[in-house]
Amino acid sequence: MPHYETFEYDVLVIGAGGAGLRAAIEASAAGVRVGLVCKSLLGKAHTVMAEGGIAAALANVDERDNWKVHFADTMRGGQYVNQWRMVELHAKEAPDRVRELEAWGAVFDRTKDGRILQRHFGGHKYPRLAHVGDRTGLEMIRTLQDHGVHQGIDVHMEHTILSLVKDGDRVVGAFGYERERGRFKIFRAKAIVLATGGIGRAYKITSNSWEYTGDGHALAYDAGAELIDMEFVQFHPTGMVWPPSVMGILVTEGVRGEGGILTNKEGKRFMFDAIPENYRSQTADNEEEGWRYCQGHKDARRPPELLTRDHVSRCIVREIKEGRGSPHGGVFLDISWIKQKLPNAAEHIKRKLPSMYHQFKQLADIDITEQPMEVGPTTHYIMGGVRVDPDTQMTRLPGLFAAGECAAGINGANRLGGNSLSDLLVFGKRAGEFAAKFAKENQHGPVEREKIDTVAREALAPFESRDRESENPYAIQKDLQETMQDLVGIVRHETEMREALERIDKFKSRAEKAAVTGNREYNPGWHTALDLDNLLIVSEAITRAALERKESRGAQFREDYPHKDERFGSVNTIISKAANGSMEIRLEPLPEMPDHLKQVIEENR
Ligand code: FUM
Repeated sequence: MPHYETFEYDVLVIGAGGAGLRAAIEASAAGVRVGLVCKSLLGKAHTVMAEGGIAAALANVDERDNWKVHFADTMRGGQYVNQWRMVELHAKEAPDRVRELEAWGAVFDRTKDGRILQRHFGGHKYPRLAHVGDRTGLEMIRTLQDHGVHQGIDVHMEHTILSLVKDGDRVVGAFGYERERGRFKIFRAKAIVLATGGIGRAYKITSNSWEYTGDGHALAYDAGAELIDMEFVQFHPTGMVWPPSVMGILVTEGVRGEGGILTNKEGKRFMFDAIPENYRSQTADNEEEGWRYCQGHKDARRPPELLTRDHVSRCIVREIKEGRGSPHGGVFLDISWIKQKLPNAAEHIKRKLPSMYHQFKQLADIDITEQPMEVGPTTHYIMGGVRVDPDTQMTRLPGLFAAGECAAGINGANRLGGNSLSDLLVFGKRAGEFAAKFAKENQHGPVEREKIDTVAREALAPFESRDRESENPYAIQKDLQETMQDLVGIVRHETEMREALERIDKFKSRAEKAAVTGNREYNPGWHTALDLDNLLIVSEAITRAALERKESRGAQFREDYPHKDERFGSVNTIISKAANGSMEIRLEPLPEMPDHLKQVIEENR
């Protein structure tokens, strides 16, 4: 019998981005023993890609802001299929979480009178994003990490979890391996928090790095938890398109928040052409008003570049498809034009957007203070994820919690920029708090060795390929990414999605034959083979949910059902694993919103 090193914790957190760190800090503060497992090095997380800021109604720049406006903005942005209770908690608690982060050492940009500065972002009525230049996510991770190291949290870096361990319905541990050496490990825990982030690597063009293969989504699904709203994948409007080696890297919405404009090859600001009805009263209809808004004039309305991401992405795709794109298949994003308005524009841009300045200078040889950037949509975030209780973040499996991007509910059909950072602070804290409570109330459960041995045997199968037909895991991953990009992307159609499902089935068969050479140590081919199952689960879930929702809403745009349909206006798509192992999908009505919150929405239309 192989020997597996075994660790024992009260709470195990899987994932060390903002949500994982915040959960670990909270659980540890509750006095329980906490382990933290992360796939990469500590500090390397997609959280840093939320560059432009943390959305919280601090009302530092515009005193009219408050939790009610934030609540209404988030519901409207999510096209009202959000879980209202999560939106309420988020809007109410985000300001405290930001102030707490400041108390822990985050160095925010400042207003003239020394308060945390807030900037404009798409879909937020008032300047709401507390920021640190265009490096907010990085500063958040740095602060949480600095704070966390003093909490006695046990960190296991470069570990991948392969399976959750269950005792009946209850989750009692996790089984995984250390990536460098390939050694298997058991983590026994009274409660587990999944905080593994997103699924970006299921697509060819993405702002996500290699870690984001839907691990938490797939672990939860396999263990028997439910996934909701998987059809809603956010394509951030502005990723780099040139040179090819950097395609997909994020260009922060902060550029547009600081006055950046989108133009086509004819020099036209095409966003003025398609202002949606529900945002018309809040959107400027001329260039001067849009600029005044970015300059902080309270009587001005937002420029159309700051409409919600789903809408801006579709407008960009339209320009490209109709032949008005830029030379490398994007459109132009220009911040240099503000020279006409500000005497010290170049310095201003470098101060407000230092990462963007360096990113374009170093990667594309473009000086953004002088030249426009070329940008196009990039897969950035998934609104769908593990279904959780809004207050506690526990899934339907006792002992299993989820927070951050891998959990779902707050964003509905489309997330507003900046709401991710506040989401992971608010719900990371809650997940840590309630996981610690659960751990205090329960004992460790037994770990069934036979099941673990099966997972280990399956994980080693790619090495046992000598006598059989074999497949290259990188080739399968690439083919899957192309399929998702081409057939389940920004614009969707039933015929194409059916074709995607057929291909996914074939990829599953190919993944069973994935083969690698070498041994378990330092073997990226093996890691890629092991990621495939998760990528295939989330890709199938996205496609099935997108087929089921026969309408266009938020991030889901269907050419064959181009309008919203009220039959889908108050339902979630729910995905679960059937007893025979197949993927089941059903529609379920959203919980009824209480009258006082309906009134908040009415008052803030
Ligand atoms: O554009 C950005 O800075 C991204 C922010 C976010 O996704 O929240």
